[in-house]
Amino acid sequence: MAKVLDGASIAAAIKADVAEGVKRLGERGVRPGLVVVQVGHVPASEIYVRNKVQASEELGLYSARITPPETVTTEELMDLIAALNAREDVDGILVQLPLPKQVDAKVLLDAIDPAKDVDGFHPVNAGLLQAGRPALAPCTPAGVIEILKRSGIPIAGANAVVVGRSDIVGKPAAMLLLHENATVTICHSKTRDLGAVTREADILVAAIGRPGFITPEMVKPGATVIDVGINRITSREEFDRFFKGNEKREAAFEKRGAVIVGDVHPAAFEVSGAYTPVPGGVGLLTIAMLMSNTVRAAKMRRGL
Ligand code: GUN
Repeated sequence: MAKVLDGASIAAAIKADVAEGVKRLGERGVRPGLVVVQVGHVPASEIYVRNKVQASEELGLYSARITPPETVTTEELMDLIAALNAREDVDGILVQLPLPKQVDAKVLLDAIDPAKDVDGFHPVNAGLLQAGRPALAPCTPAGVIEILKRSGIPIAGANAVVVGRSDIVGKPAAMLLLHENATVTICHSKTRDLGAVTREADILVAAIGRPGFITPEMVKPGATVIDVGINRITSREEFDRFFKGNEKREAAFEKRGAVIVGDVHPAAFEVSGAYTPVPGGVGLLTIAMLMSNTVRAAKMRRGL
């Protein structure tokens, strides 16, 4: 039986470490602070941002949410970022995505002080990460590494295959795995005979954004499979493709008209040695790593 790598218990362990870090900083008179900028009213963002602010408060960080209107301009947001960059009590600035069309997201994210870029999206942090220097790494890939380490899965010398090359997940995940001495391959939509490559993976990271894309024959028996995908399924046909005969999922689908599936087909988990479920895996680590990055930013900015 494949082992389930439980995101909830790993997230709880990280949060306990973060709370300890917050306490130690408190003894020096420092309270790490996170400001989340949430533009307009995207329903998914409301939930994410609420969870981020709530987690901050639980762990003893200062946190605030700033909510500019849907009609805000890039210039107005640039002024806001400049003010937050200058605030001594703000260690982390997170601009929740997506942003409305009229806002130039790239220009805006590039305006965040890299020392306060707790999302790790700034090109300076991407460059520092690439160069193997201390950097704020994006939360989701940082969470992937924490899952592997805290589950005792050896990374050094392992064949790690990352499927997906986004700037936010695939590329930084590959870089972090490389720094842990894995032999890393990045695959993408143009990769020839993808299954032949993924079958070589001791650690397979799926970050493609396509429901159930990784099928059983693409997984080496006993491999560790990390599923970063979060895809909402609403059609009966797709439901049956992934979950036919699964009573628990059936009940959820009947009740809500939707279920979440990762980038890995559930049958592929059966082939693995260990895997992160969806939901309940990597997704739960992202907020814990945001908290961790905020404490790290607070320390780094003060040379601690
Ligand atoms: N929207 C959904 N996930 C994220 C995230 O991790 N960071 C930001 N800034 N926006 C998001």
